[in-house]
Amino acid sequence: LKRGLSTSSAMNAVIKNVTIVGGGLMGSGIAQVAAQTGHNVTLVEVNPDLIKKAEDNIVKSLARVAKKQFKDDPEGGKKFIAESQSRIKGTTDIAEAVKDSDLVVEAIVENMEIKHKFFKTLDEVAPAKTMFASNTSSLSIGEIASVTKRKDRFGGLHFFNPVPVMKLLEVVRIPETSEETYQAFMAWGKAIGKTCVTCKDTPGFIVNRLLVPYVAEAIRMMERGDASPRDIDTAMKLGAGYPMGPIELSDYVGHDTSHSILQGWHKKFPDNPLFVPNESVDKLVKEKKLGLKTGEGFYKYTK
Ligand code: NAI
Repeated sequence: LKRGLSTSSAMNAVIKNVTIVGGGLMGSGIAQVAAQTGHNVTLVEVNPDLIKKAEDNIVKSLARVAKKQFKDDPEGGKKFIAESQSRIKGTTDIAEAVKDSDLVVEAIVENMEIKHKFFKTLDEVAPAKTMFASNTSSLSIGEIASVTKRKDRFGGLHFFNPVPVMKLLEVVRIPETSEETYQAFMAWGKAIGKTCVTCKDTPGFIVNRLLVPYVAEAIRMMERGDASPRDIDTAMKLGAGYPMGPIELSDYVGHDTSHSILQGWHKKFPDNPLFVPNESVDKLVKEKKLGLKTGEGFYKYTK
């Protein structure tokens, strides 16, 4: 059983102390998987209430993992939850949070100005050895890194929601990312139980670069009236073997999220027809019909 940093290769791991900044949907998941696999985690949020909220979510999620992994061993499950929980320390003080940090993973709001402000401060207070990563879905890693003086120790670590369940980690290299940093990222990804893929700092990396235009094209098909949303979803599930159809996937992801991704890319690359935002999504966003989370998107949901 490889729970915790007990194997000799893991003992030599470069990344032992991690700082996760932002304890929302993604940050709390990243903090959890790191703690679960024996890393010391410091979780940074903007106020104590949000730290508490993140910690509560992590405990609930750990309980779900324990129920599966320790089906016949409730005592072992309790120990797993308590030990994982004890490795996470919450704080609102970024300087304190990075004092001994090997790696900082940023998972704050998807906004370049806010990320710049954060990384500029972080670069000033973090020790020289500390590596930085952003979990951004759609912004350029190089542009985020540009405000720091450590581009060689900077890269993208792009996780998928829900983090404790999804196996993939996209490791993004900018031209300046050193081989040492890249190798440390790959080793850490493996240590937290993920399968790593590598790509350049290209819009959407691998998964979203393919998925976002595919979903937009499915919506365009529906907008033209070529097929109904139900039939498009059924077709891709039964004909292409996808677990979810593109229209239901768009409701699941949330139209605010995918729309702002497409708008960002469209603004930056106006000549790429794959990045043109959908009018019907624009309308849904204006009407606050954001999908599953608001009870209505292209489909209606009852709780
Ligand atoms: P979220 O809104 O759930 O969480 C963001 C958290 O960051 C909030 O709790 C906020 O209080 C906190 N925060 C904001 N500024 C901060 C600061 N300066 N210091 C500390 N905490 C701060 O957002 P979510 O969905 O977790 O997304 C975070 C990042 O992860 C974004 O860059 C997003 O693009 C990326 N991402 C999101 C995915 C998703 O499915 N939601 C998937 C993969 C990446």
